[in-house]
Formats: sequence, structure tokens, C-alpha cells
Amino acid sequence: MNTQSTTTNQNQLLIRPERAEDYSAVSTILHAAFGGTAEAQLVAALRGHPTLKSLVAVIGGEVVGHIAFSPVAIAAVTVAGPPAEISAYGLAPLAVSPEHQCMGIGTELVRAGLTLMEQSGISVVVVLGDPAYYSRFGFRPAATFNITCKWEDHQDAFQVWSRLPDGSIPQGVVAYLPEFDEV
Ligand SMILES: CC(C)(COP(=O)(O)OP(=O)(O)OC[C@H]1O[C@@H](n2cnc3c(N)ncnc32)[C@H](O)[C@@H]1OP(=O)(O)O)[C@@H](O)C(=O)NCCC(=O)NCCS
Repeated sequence: MNTQSTTTNQNQLLIRPERAEDYSAVSTILHAAFGGTAEAQLVAALRGHPTLKSLVAVIGGEVVGHIAFSPVAIAAVTVAGPPAEISAYGLAPLAVSPEHQCMGIGTELVRAGLTLMEQSGISVVVVLGDPAYYSRFGFRPAATFNITCKWEDHQDAFQVWSRLPDGSIPQGVVAYLPEFDEV
């Protein structure tokens, strides 16, 4: 992908693909943002999949945010027609270092990530998160499209983003990579 930049607090914000030298800083951010080890362990495990797509936000050479997308399987039955091969990814996790939150960095990471999805031919993205946050990017309640996650208590927070016509969005239970079973 092309790197993207914007200006935040007089410092240049750069969004670029994650590199191996970022791993330590990303782990620190995940620990600090989530207050535990689960998300950092998840991301470390997901890096074993070449299909993982992850970006970092950098200000003044310092990594301050991270976003990851990994492939998911959705029962590929569409309302409009016969079963089709549809590429879908799950957004998780998203984190910005506590000192840099509420400066628009998470917003830039999500926007750049969705652009990367489009450029990669990924037509459906799901996320488990606060609808008040993710709706601003075009995520809509997954239940509207008969898409559910396996976390029964969190269906209200499960959302979908897609460039497909609504009738072409696949329906069913979303299966994440096995690494998510450990979270
Ligand atoms: C959620 C998170 C990534 C947002 O990043 P950010 O750079 O702080 O967000 P932005 O500056 O782009 O956006 C700020 C907006 O998001 C809201 N927001 C921030 N964190 C939020 C959260 N956890 N839930 C809902 N809304 C949140 C702010 O209230 C603000 O709203 P406003 O624009 O209406 O004023 C960041 O707060 C974070 O790392 N939180 C801890 C980890 C987490 O909860 N990750 C998301 C689940 S995967």
C-alpha cells in the first residue's frame, strides 16, 4: 500500500504497513491500551499467518498505534444469488497508545485499513466493537444482514462494513482464525 500521512498536533502522522522492527513497540501499545496481555499475544500469534494485514501509526519516528486485519470465513450464501467466493476480513485489534488517544489516530488507522482492504479486493470487513465508534466509518449492525459472531453476549457490538450491494453480503456465523479462540 502507499503510506498515508496527515498532520496531528504539528507532528506528521504516518500510516504504513507494520514491519518486524515495530513488533516490540506494538506489543507495548497493546499492553497499555488494553491493560492485559491477551491482545499482544493474539497479534504475536496472528503474525504467523501471511494473510495478516497490519498497519502502524507513526509520529516523529515513534509507533503510537496499530491495527490488524485477519481473514474470516462467512457462510457464503447470498440473498441475491448462488453461493459465491467472497473475501472477508475481521478488524482486530485496534489500539492507540494511551498518551496519544483522542487525537484522531485511531480514525486514520481505520480509514487507511479500510482503504487497504479495498485495494486488496476484500469486500467485507467485520468488527466487534463500540458501534458509536465504528459506525462513523460505515460499519453497520451485522445482525441486520443475518451475520453473527460466536460470542453470544456481544452480538449487538458485531458490525459489518462492505462495498457490496446489501443483497450480496454473505450471511452466517463468522469464523475467525483459531488464534482468536485463545482470547
Ligand atoms: C479505541 C481507540 C483505538 C480509539 O483511538 P483514538 O485514536 O483514541 O480515537 P480517535 O481520536 O480517532 O477518535 C476519538 C473518538 O473515539 C471515541 N473513543 C475513543 N475510545 C473509544 C472506545 N473505546 N469506545 C468508543 N469510543 C471511543 C472518543 O470518544 C472520540 O469520540 P468523538 O470523535 O465523538 O469525540 C483507542 O481509544 C484505544 O486504543 N482504546 C483502547 C483499546 C480499545 O478499546 N480498542 C478498540 C477495540 S478493538
